[in-house]
Amino acid sequence: MTTPNFAIPRSVIWNDESISLLNQQKIPHVTEYLELKTIQDVWEAIQSLKVRGAPAIGITAAFGLALSALQDEAVSLVTFQENIRKNRDYLATSRPTAVNLVWALDRLVNSITHVKSVNEGKTTIVHEAIQVQAEDEAVCRLIGEHALTLFNRGDKVMTICNAGSIATAKYGTALAPFYLAKEKDIDLRVFACETRPVLQGARLTTWELMQADVDVTLITDNMAAHTIKSKGINSIIVGADRIAANGDTANKIGTFNLALLAKAFNIPFYVAAPLSTFDPAIPDGSHIPIEERDAEEVTTIQGVRTAPEGVKVFNPAFDVTPNELISGIITEKGIVTGDYTTEIRNLFS
Ligand code: MRU
Repeated sequence: MTTPNFAIPRSVIWNDESISLLNQQKIPHVTEYLELKTIQDVWEAIQSLKVRGAPAIGITAAFGLALSALQDEAVSLVTFQENIRKNRDYLATSRPTAVNLVWALDRLVNSITHVKSVNEGKTTIVHEAIQVQAEDEAVCRLIGEHALTLFNRGDKVMTICNAGSIATAKYGTALAPFYLAKEKDIDLRVFACETRPVLQGARLTTWELMQADVDVTLITDNMAAHTIKSKGINSIIVGADRIAANGDTANKIGTFNLALLAKAFNIPFYVAAPLSTFDPAIPDGSHIPIEERDAEEVTTIQGVRTAPEGVKVFNPAFDVTPNELISGIITEKGIVTGDYTTEIRNLFS
């Protein structure tokens, strides 16, 4: 058997005293890795979308907290733990919707509850951050394997935003089955929605899938219905930023539109997400905080103004797809469907 000759890019690399971060704002024009040395660098990188995608945000924040732990000069353990909690709260303000951010930060904070010294605390926190990243890679591969069972050779599958390798540790969630299909020589065709306002589909999904030689076709968001009908799209798969206890799912703005189209065309609509994206503490999607971002993202495209000065703008970065529109949620533990409240409770028991 020959080794497949394709590349799957990575966005976050831990260097012991700094983080190398793929600057996703510059893809596809420039492939540049930034060196983040402080917790402020990390906050800014997350807030300005240099790193984005729920699991990658969590991983970067975890390494940011690890950096702050290594740089902490506290002598007493109590002060060290208090500083870590404050830094956790600071990083948690960088973006509101993706629950992976607080999930990863809280995991690190909890890891140092029972340490005996500041030094042990530092080692433990770094180790935990490395684990968060390593586990995410394994989890994404499992999601890809489960998702692949839902497709047939030659299927045409639509997606939105970028739920790919650079949005995670590796492989991605919604894009993982396409990498695995490539490894197994199964032909699948991806139709990527460009994803206004900041074009994660056009800039990132096409870039990473083309490097892996996955067959990808770019469309603008308003071409989705026509494309489903005229190209015979078989199914839609998306990622998630937060999934409530009843399966309601927040993901990139425009996802809800695709779920409604899937229902209209009677094709399956799948969500792919790790357990770290679930928020079982909230009963339904109405409790998910939806980030509203700067008006400039809408009034400009890549820095070029396209709307009149002073126009009123509404710019929600995410929407919530109600559970009844979701055919299945693909996790590392398998695919949940039907009675989401019960199925999701079982996932966590
Ligand atoms: O604003 P972004 O680019 O962080 O939004 C990302 C998404 O909506 C992704 O689909 C989601 O985080 C899943 S990434 C595996």
